[in-house]
Amino acid sequence: MNLQWNNRNNSFIKKLTSLLFVLIFAFGVISTNVPVQAAATSTDAEVTNTASFSTDVIYQIVTDRFFDGDTSNNPTGSIFDKSNLQKYHGGDWAGITQKLNDGYFSNMGVTALWISSPVENITTIDPSNNCASYHGYWAKDFFKTNSYFGSVSDFQTMVNKAHALGIKIVIDFAPNHTSTAEYGTMTFPEDGALYKNGTYLGGFKNDSQGLFNHESWTDFSTYENSIYHSMYGLADLNHQNATVDAYMKEAIQNWLDLGVDGIRVDAVKHMSFGWQKNWLSSIYSYKSVFVFGEWFNGGVAADADMTKFANDSGMSLLDFRFANAVRNALGNGSATMEDLYDVIVATDADYNEVNDQVTFIDNHDMSRFMTLASNNQRAVDNAYVILLTSRGVPTIYYGSEQYATGTTDPYNRGDMPSFNTNSTAYKVISYLAPLRKSNPALAYGTTSERWMNDDVFIYERKFGNNVVVTAVNRNQSKSYSVAGLYTSLPQGTYSDVMQGTLGGGTITVASTGAVNTFTLGAGQSAVWQYTASSTATPLIGNVDPMMGVAGNTVTITGRGFGSTQGSVSFGTSAAQVVSWSDAQIKVKIPSVAAGKYAIKVTTASGTASNTYSGFEVLSATQISVRFKVNNATTNYGSNVYLVGSVYELGNWDVTKAIGPLFNSTSSIGMYPTWFYDVNVPAGTTIQYKFIKKDASGNVIWESGNNHTAVTPATGTQTFSVDWQN
Ligand code: NOJ
Ligand code: NOJ
Ligand code: CA
Repeated sequence: MNLQWNNRNNSFIKKLTSLLFVLIFAFGVISTNVPVQAAATSTDAEVTNTASFSTDVIYQIVTDRFFDGDTSNNPTGSIFDKSNLQKYHGGDWAGITQKLNDGYFSNMGVTALWISSPVENITTIDPSNNCASYHGYWAKDFFKTNSYFGSVSDFQTMVNKAHALGIKIVIDFAPNHTSTAEYGTMTFPEDGALYKNGTYLGGFKNDSQGLFNHESWTDFSTYENSIYHSMYGLADLNHQNATVDAYMKEAIQNWLDLGVDGIRVDAVKHMSFGWQKNWLSSIYSYKSVFVFGEWFNGGVAADADMTKFANDSGMSLLDFRFANAVRNALGNGSATMEDLYDVIVATDADYNEVNDQVTFIDNHDMSRFMTLASNNQRAVDNAYVILLTSRGVPTIYYGSEQYATGTTDPYNRGDMPSFNTNSTAYKVISYLAPLRKSNPALAYGTTSERWMNDDVFIYERKFGNNVVVTAVNRNQSKSYSVAGLYTSLPQGTYSDVMQGTLGGGTITVASTGAVNTFTLGAGQSAVWQYTASSTATPLIGNVDPMMGVAGNTVTITGRGFGSTQGSVSFGTSAAQVVSWSDAQIKVKIPSVAAGKYAIKVTTASGTASNTYSGFEVLSATQISVRFKVNNATTNYGSNVYLVGSVYELGNWDVTKAIGPLFNSTSSIGMYPTWFYDVNVPAGTTIQYKFIKKDASGNVIWESGNNHTAVTPATGTQTFSVDWQN
């Protein structure tokens, strides 16, 4: 029985009345639901080996700044200085393990830790900015640990402890670059060199193997410029180099072997789409994990390339649009609650799986929320209420639950100020994080605005009969009388899930859904919820990952699948079931033609679920090929695209052609040469052509025969041809 019935009035009579009401109501629910199914029990018993993070709350840790559990591994010399925010401070995996042991995470309710990139970084000061590699973004050897964070065995101890507590481990991973190697005439001690388990592979200036791109710093002007130019002189890896491609596929497997459950991919805007999709496909074929990328975005508006990446790359994205909308409405007050809702509506339309994007209110690249909100603690608390009850997988940035302050990098990455389990924000999180596990409306539900003005935002999340209603008044000097509110909550009296921590009270809901008029005091917020005891019709909430090749494992989550195994179909093909429970099913992708499929679950008793569409089955193991066409002159406004005989090349459908291709990178191709790095099936004979498309979609085909090529079984390749007039 999952019915939650919180009542702040603790008198015995009230409790008794409530209990009677629960019983009567529960009876009503059960008697109307046919067939009656076993109530959902443990929904996430299996911590590891599932790509679904739908019910998790992630806690982001800058490892060096969290807790020093082992001073013996601290660096010596100029890169270590606890009084300097640009140097190492000693935090490590032993420290995280200690905090796992003392319950800091479990008591807060967080169920996944995202830690700094664990790979070996440069051990010298970067002369261009006097900074040490404490943040983990200056890799040297992806096959070794950053020894200042610990050894392989320290890492494993941390992972095992986390898993024993039902907590997942997500690693940051930055395959875009190594370390800084270029700034005017400056000499860099480590030359951005890349090593493989101690063996030198090459450096940026000493690059006989072509491991790096050698364009200047990116000016961020175009997608193309961001990909092939370096970010602030960080030696930019050339992923089309077969050594680099194989290196990154193997390196990530080593970390997955150590039990990693998820990957946060750094700087996805700065690597080609095709190479990343090929790398991802290799990951999913190895282990089914949750992967989300960082496409940095400073505003709330849509960006077509970013949206495409979120929908088609096979990985989720950190949801900067949502973060910025919450920061504007509740942080600095530059926007209203209506504006926040507009962004929620817009992202809902733009993202195929808005519930699977990773949300946050601050991180290591922006000011702490506390600072943004002029040191107002209640603003932080209210922002967490919205974060934890909104769509998306919420992420808490370490220390912000202790009201840490700080403007830009490195001030937003200070030492963990305290581990106070009584801070209001810590308590708010500890009330709401478990609700994400128990009430599926938070993980999978729709979002509807129910009552709103500039200051107040009351919204409802709903999945099947599960409902969560959140009310937040951001105005700390004005209370509002909330009249005329309707919700989907069943008739009854509901008390605040946070037990009044932020001033929330009790509401009474009539059978019509009408809520009694109540006052939402200045700066107050409340969460009311109803968890259904059973689900008559199976409901798919999420599918992770949403891409793969035949045989890969996919996790389907939701409610009402029943305790007895039924069946799962991809289109009209049945998928082999690996495991089955009421809230989670694992299947293998069936051998079907490449394309997009709708997934459907049918229970043992024959009831079919909703269809969950858009699952992408790829043709075969992917590799990354650079397609290049020379002498393709175009009229102003026209662009060159690529189309071909396999699904990955659009199956000859010009509306699915790859492009517009790039033509402005001097080391690869300049107009009238066009190129693009594309994921295609390995070891396959393909036919392709380039086309010219104008702004209204008119197409000019290359004449002559199709180009024919055989893609390599492994590695990378460039196919370069002349435009056939
Ligand atoms: C984005 C990261 O979040 C940022 O902190 C880092 O400096 C750059 N990528 C480069 O790795
Ligand atoms: C249609 C195009 O017109 C032609 O040029 C191309 O060769 C074929 N599609 C591919 O079969
Ligand atoms: Ca240490």
